[in-house]
Amino acid sequence: MRKPPSIAPARGRLAVLVPGLGAVATTLIAGVEAVRRGLAKPIGSLTQMGTVRLGKRTDRRAPLIRELVPLAALDDVRFGAWDVFPDDAYESACHAHVLEHDLLEQLRTPLSAIRPMPAVFSPEYVKRLDGPNVKKGRTKLDLGEQLREDIRRFLRDQECDRAVMVWCASTETFLERSAVHGELARLEKAMAANDPAVTPSMIYAWAALKEGVPFANGAPNLTVDVPALQQLAKKQGVAIAGKDFKTGQTLMKTVLAPMLKARMLGLAGWFSTNILGNRDGEVLDDPGSFKTKEVSKLSALEHILQPDLYPDLYGKFDHKVQIHYYRPRGDNKEGWDAIDIVGWLGYPMQIKVNFLCRDSILAAPVALDIALFLDLAQRAGMSGIQEWMSFYFKSPMVAEGLYPEHDLFIQLTKLKNTLRHLAGEELITHLGLDYYEK
Ligand SMILES: NC(=O)c1ccc[n+]([C@@H]2O[C@H](COP(=O)([O-])OP(=O)(O)OC[C@H]3O[C@@H](n4cnc5c(N)ncnc54)[C@H](O)[C@@H]3O)[C@@H](O)[C@H]2O)c1
Repeated sequence: MRKPPSIAPARGRLAVLVPGLGAVATTLIAGVEAVRRGLAKPIGSLTQMGTVRLGKRTDRRAPLIRELVPLAALDDVRFGAWDVFPDDAYESACHAHVLEHDLLEQLRTPLSAIRPMPAVFSPEYVKRLDGPNVKKGRTKLDLGEQLREDIRRFLRDQECDRAVMVWCASTETFLERSAVHGELARLEKAMAANDPAVTPSMIYAWAALKEGVPFANGAPNLTVDVPALQQLAKKQGVAIAGKDFKTGQTLMKTVLAPMLKARMLGLAGWFSTNILGNRDGEVLDDPGSFKTKEVSKLSALEHILQPDLYPDLYGKFDHKVQIHYYRPRGDNKEGWDAIDIVGWLGYPMQIKVNFLCRDSILAAPVALDIALFLDLAQRAGMSGIQEWMSFYFKSPMVAEGLYPEHDLFIQLTKLKNTLRHLAGEELITHLGLDYYEK
């Protein structure tokens, strides 16, 4: 067994810093405030409600995750944010129309106290958005330095011992990796030269890593998924994770597709469409931002079904993904999947999924778990890409040369085995022959 690392205790306060104080971020913050006050339960959060089985099934040991490993307590979390709009967390939560007014009224005092710091933003990268609460700076490097100062000031003012940053801001326009992203020195030179290949989200990630703050990306932007920033993470000994919260339709896809493959059922096509009426939907109505999302959503099936290993089953299938901005639905996204599958002797069958979900209600517990696990990883000395957190992402980041693991239950097994490893417990292989060897 690999020796478990020693983990620094979760002493003092943890700052959870979020670029983007929109629907997801305010639902996260209001949710944590509500749970702290005993007004609601943290449903959907593995760190708050999940358990891990230890030892043999006959041992009946299944502690809560937060008792097995030292996670920051919700009472010790302080939220800070940046946004292009100056609305505080209460105003922004009201505008997002996710949580009921009654609940928000009870949380008005703590939410009103969270006012977003001026953002690093340019409408060039998010076409459907513009706002007044934006930093000014001569260069992107200068803007990055201003973010570093924000982080230091927040930690000082809120008397926090540690911080993590989770990107909850809008999806940026599609961008491919280029030479500028290849190594840290080039990226920093490009920041000083205001190169358009350096996006606002990269500037936040750079600032966080320079300050030794772990960074996770909840959107499908390239951001920290480039060698230059991965080098910086390694150099600074900082944990990173991403990208794109896995919530509605992709969550379903990464459960159903492994089932097809497990039973060797074929696939002729998978048609996915959604209607969504929140600000995220409006931003994704721009073709550049949608392309970023589409690439992220399309990748899961190919990786799960492995067409090269199973050409007869998955060698040729159609896969379409659409998101339509439809204002009346607000945050209550509706998704449809029409799945054409193939059975014994080539006979066709169909599966239909109609998921009436709430986007931010699904995303908030995911964002909370990511923040708490990133902080755990950092205290355990785990730097660079945290692949064990793939469970939470649509496009999991992995080391160069590896393909990402998308199957939700393989991801969960990996996550729980990582927690067992961190706690110095035996990993579980599910072999189980010893139960029958008496
Ligand atoms: N809700 C989900 O289920 C889900 C799932 C996967 C990914 N996401 C992603 O999470 C992100 C947040 O989603 P949301 O529903 O809260 O969107 P939202 O539009 O309600 O909030 C995003 C906020 O980010 C702000 N913003 C944009 N660029 C910024 C910048 N450079 N700096 C600071 N603030 C900036 C916007 O003003 C807005 O208030 C989106 O990128 C979305 O695609 C959401």
